[in-house]
Amino acid sequence: MIQIKNNVFLLKNENISYMFRVTKDGNLEHLHFGAPVEIDDEDAFAVRYGVGWGSTGGPEGEEFPMYLPMEWSSLGRGDYRESPMELDQEIPAAFKYTSYKEYDHTVAIECGLPQAHGDAETLEIIMTSPSQMSLHLFYTLFDTAVTRRAVFRNETRRSINVEKMMSSMMDIQGDYEITTYNGAWIAEMQPYRAKVGMSGIVNESTTGFSSALHNPGFILSEPDATETDGVVMGFNLIYSGNHYSRVQRSNEGLIRIVQGISPVSFDWLLGPGKQFETPEAVMVWSASGFGGMSENMHRFINEHIIPQYWHNRERPVLYNDWEGCMFDFTESKLISLAKKAKELGCELFVLDDGWFGERNSDKAGLGDYNVNKKKLPNGLSGLQKKLGDLGLDFGLWFEPEAVNPDSDLFRKHPDWAIQSDDGVTVLGRNELLLDLSLPEVRDYIVENVSRCIDEGKVSYVKWDMNRHSTALGASAHRYILGLYDVLRRIFGPRPEVLLESCSSGGNRFDLGMLCFSPQIWASDNTDAVERCRIQYQLSYLYPLSTIGAHVSAAPHSQTLRDTPLSTRGNISFFGLLGYEFDLADLTPVETDEIKNQIAFYKKYRNLFQFGSFRRLKAAEGISMQVSGDGTAVAGLFHELVHAAPGYERLYPRGLDPKKVYSVLSRRQLLNATKFGGLLRHVLPIRVKPDGAVVRTAGKIYRMNDAVRECDATGAALMSGMSLNARFMGTGYDPSMRMQGDFSSNIYVITTEET
Ligand code: DGJ
Repeated sequence: MIQIKNNVFLLKNENISYMFRVTKDGNLEHLHFGAPVEIDDEDAFAVRYGVGWGSTGGPEGEEFPMYLPMEWSSLGRGDYRESPMELDQEIPAAFKYTSYKEYDHTVAIECGLPQAHGDAETLEIIMTSPSQMSLHLFYTLFDTAVTRRAVFRNETRRSINVEKMMSSMMDIQGDYEITTYNGAWIAEMQPYRAKVGMSGIVNESTTGFSSALHNPGFILSEPDATETDGVVMGFNLIYSGNHYSRVQRSNEGLIRIVQGISPVSFDWLLGPGKQFETPEAVMVWSASGFGGMSENMHRFINEHIIPQYWHNRERPVLYNDWEGCMFDFTESKLISLAKKAKELGCELFVLDDGWFGERNSDKAGLGDYNVNKKKLPNGLSGLQKKLGDLGLDFGLWFEPEAVNPDSDLFRKHPDWAIQSDDGVTVLGRNELLLDLSLPEVRDYIVENVSRCIDEGKVSYVKWDMNRHSTALGASAHRYILGLYDVLRRIFGPRPEVLLESCSSGGNRFDLGMLCFSPQIWASDNTDAVERCRIQYQLSYLYPLSTIGAHVSAAPHSQTLRDTPLSTRGNISFFGLLGYEFDLADLTPVETDEIKNQIAFYKKYRNLFQFGSFRRLKAAEGISMQVSGDGTAVAGLFHELVHAAPGYERLYPRGLDPKKVYSVLSRRQLLNATKFGGLLRHVLPIRVKPDGAVVRTAGKIYRMNDAVRECDATGAALMSGMSLNARFMGTGYDPSMRMQGDFSSNIYVITTEET
């Protein structure tokens, strides 16, 4: 609901409120972002600044914006905090409130930027400056979030260069810490938390894309906020290019938050009568700690960001050939992998890189869309037909935004690639970016990708992008608009094609991409233990339905870690399950374990993908839970085992304290070879650790692991359910958790009481 009274504006629903007012000088004073409140509460929020502090430098006769909590600010008006906007003209634009408009829906962005959709109300505040410019601030209220964006219109008779233009600015009061998520390739989502001080913290990307270096999402939390208590706010930007946020505290204790496109190398020449639209900034609020904030953000993304067709639509369990084959495959090798994948329970077979042109390594062929007939003599349709006969859907990899210099495309159109003016070719993964601001480049991509999708009856596309570039400079924003145009033209008419975006893993994990691709490949780091941390950190800002997570080989290619198969599966459950290694050498026991994993995931798939997600308390390691409709599934993931580990408990949340629940651990199998010579302690015969008996036992002998059953009230379970011992010792008991390092277990908690 939007309420307006005496120049006070309130956007309010049962979860959240946003309130501001117009001051007597036509500025916008921020009043409140948080718990639902009433419009008459204005007086409780407005700051009282008396006669102001010292010399203020504000325009004569006006109040002192330097000290006010503001919704927007201008240079040259006495506000020395960060300005949301900079133009190339001598007299800074001073915008004053003139009018408003109300809409009972979202208001379309005209320049092609993606935006949140669905039920919403929008308030447009119109501000003008004496120099014929207008600013339109859009506030859209969704059930668990508020979004903001700004539009600048040049109503003068000359061109104006926009050098900086934020989507939103807001000054709030309080003591907050900021958490940002930083990293690199195969090291995404490393949290960094700091007190918001007067120097401020900048969270910015300048690689041309949202980047793994600094994810655009960030969190503000009260210093003592926990997973379940305290005020926590989540922020993000619906944009995939260079982003910028700064959070800075003023002397008076106001915290200024700006969000938008990075001003680094940015400028946009705005002709007379033209407008510049910024991407939508997202804000959620919760008084129920980090968990409450995540839940609100997850709901917002699942209901208002993900393409409509994929709302609540279950995602397939897939097999991807990349880590198993790389560039080295033939149709018959793929079909034999596909047969095994089908036997295991996979539903979709994804052919990754290497299927077109001379793409036999990452040095050549990118940009050419002719099928490599040596590898696929029957083309895409031939492969699809065979997969279809096996009962598998067909998924295909593309990297449409880049080109190898060693490709027919580059030889024909060298001018389509973005290169620096000094004539020095700088490659990244042997690639150059194509200039997506050129219509002919966009047409080429749309035509070719669409043709391949239709030819191969492709039901899933992995859209990769491995070349970030600071050389995009001022054209970075045009590139991103071009990318959105291409995505819209390919997938708009094909909503049922599931798009998974990827950028060397999580180098473009952002809300802009999620508006087109319901899921994103979280990281090229597929080591289960490291991936667990990446998925866990992603969960703060993104729902599990968006996180592509595959089981890979052990020992792992990046870490050599030999993580138990059970744990590799358990971690991938908390994301979108897939398998990505050579299946040819699976033993009968491993085959059985994977069949079990897939069957289990399918049974609880809706909960894993769309259930309510919680991070749980754990004495050691990571614990997470998904729940809905009287069932909860909780996972507990450990790192190194200790010889004398002490008693441990699982702490599920969100159960009905009065109802009785049954807990049952997921059936997991132990590989007997793990025990080597220790087997002699439980077998009647003496065995050699590396002998035929142990090896054969490893292939076929199934040892149940960590069986735990318990019936108790929700109250008792939430107080902490005791877990089986992890003591390693000698001797075997099927109830013990015996996987050693990097063990994990999954517990299903159900109730029949209604
Ligand atoms: C990078 C991606 O992140 C990988 O999953 C894989 O698709 C390779 N590119 C293929 O070149």
